[in-house]
Amino acid sequence: MSKAETLARRRQLLGNNLSIAYQNPVKIVRGSMQYLYDDEGREYLDAYNNVAHVGHCHPRVVATGQQQMALLNTNTRYLSDLINEYAARLIATLPQQLKVCFFVNSGSEANELALRLARAHTKAMHLVVLDHAYHGNTTTLIDISPYKHNGPGGPGAPPWVHTVPLPDLYRGLYRSDDVEAADKYAQHVNEVIQQVRTDRVCGFIAESMPSVGGQIFLPENYFTKVYAAVRSAGGVCIADEVQTGYGRIGTHFWGFEKYGVVPDIVVLGKPIGNGHPIGAVITTREIADSFDNGMEFFSTFGGNNVSCAIGLAVLRTVLEENLESHAEQVGSQMLERLRKFTSQFDIVGDVRGSGLFLGVELVNDRAMREPATEAATSVVNQMREEGILIGTDGPFHNVLKIRPPMCFTSADGDRLVEELARVLSGGY
Ligand SMILES: Cc1ncc(COP(=O)(O)O)c(C=O)c1O
Repeated sequence: MSKAETLARRRQLLGNNLSIAYQNPVKIVRGSMQYLYDDEGREYLDAYNNVAHVGHCHPRVVATGQQQMALLNTNTRYLSDLINEYAARLIATLPQQLKVCFFVNSGSEANELALRLARAHTKAMHLVVLDHAYHGNTTTLIDISPYKHNGPGGPGAPPWVHTVPLPDLYRGLYRSDDVEAADKYAQHVNEVIQQVRTDRVCGFIAESMPSVGGQIFLPENYFTKVYAAVRSAGGVCIADEVQTGYGRIGTHFWGFEKYGVVPDIVVLGKPIGNGHPIGAVITTREIADSFDNGMEFFSTFGGNNVSCAIGLAVLRTVLEENLESHAEQVGSQMLERLRKFTSQFDIVGDVRGSGLFLGVELVNDRAMREPATEAATSVVNQMREEGILIGTDGPFHNVLKIRPPMCFTSADGDRLVEELARVLSGGY
């Protein structure tokens, strides 16, 4: 079918609030490592899709999945060495307190389960969330995702959800020139704890580097202060590592490690299956025991043999191909070149990142930091026409989001930076 026919058919058959990337949609028919190919055979350099963490259709992952599908695929009610091995290898990447694993099928399911664990352990309900956060597509997760419930069509937050300002040092309430920014942002969490005191707080959930929020790096001591406050009020701290884990940030395997904290519950999704739907929750023995209250936990597909085989192959690939240090090396080179854009192009207000998790914030006016939303859309579409896929994010959709498969090379990084410079010089 032609692209136009595919689009028309999709509009007829699928829900129309499924968004489509780019003004000129791309019809992808094949993927290989950091490349995607459209129906006319055109190659695209993928600098956006973090789910294909070790590379689109990585041969080792594909072969492992094929072999396991041909052998056995069943559920966790039968004994299997595969699931134990996968859990053990995952746990080995985490701080030693985090030692019990649950497997589900998506980041949303993992966050749902994290909430159940937190509630079972604390017997409390009130949750503190960061403004602009996104944690998943279920009813409860829309409730805890200000990006959705405060966005178009959103019903707002329920009374048990308390939104605190996103600690964004570039355009937030307190900025990088404020040495007390971490304290001031953390104070908002303290205020919620005081406010709900008699009811008690269940916990705090945040992405380690808020991604939908605009590729944000939090003030250094923010998590330390917030975690201490939440724990002293009897709550638990949940790290949503769906986007930031598995070596993506280059300097550390997990995003939270950058801030020197250890969460009580860690939520994993997207990259851990390299495109196969896997989610996981890892927690302490104490929290897992509180959850073991008589009610069985079961997910039909979560932890099935094929998922575990694939998950294990992905994890082994990340470790054996040293993708964390690779991300650090390639990402640092890109970051160094991109940072020069702030003096080369008036429209580039801020460049931030770590490893292969980068953001370039576009503004119409540097002093006022007015978001350059239209320009960002135009830049992303021009890059797509040049065969490089990036996206936008942030509350104003003015942050260029660069988050490629981890096999992205220095040469790919050079190509992206040079093309972006050309697009920024040419007008938007
Ligand atoms: C930070 C974060 N958490 C959770 C989710 C939900 O994951 P899924 O779409 O696999 O349900 C997403 C998805 O975009 C996400 O970005």
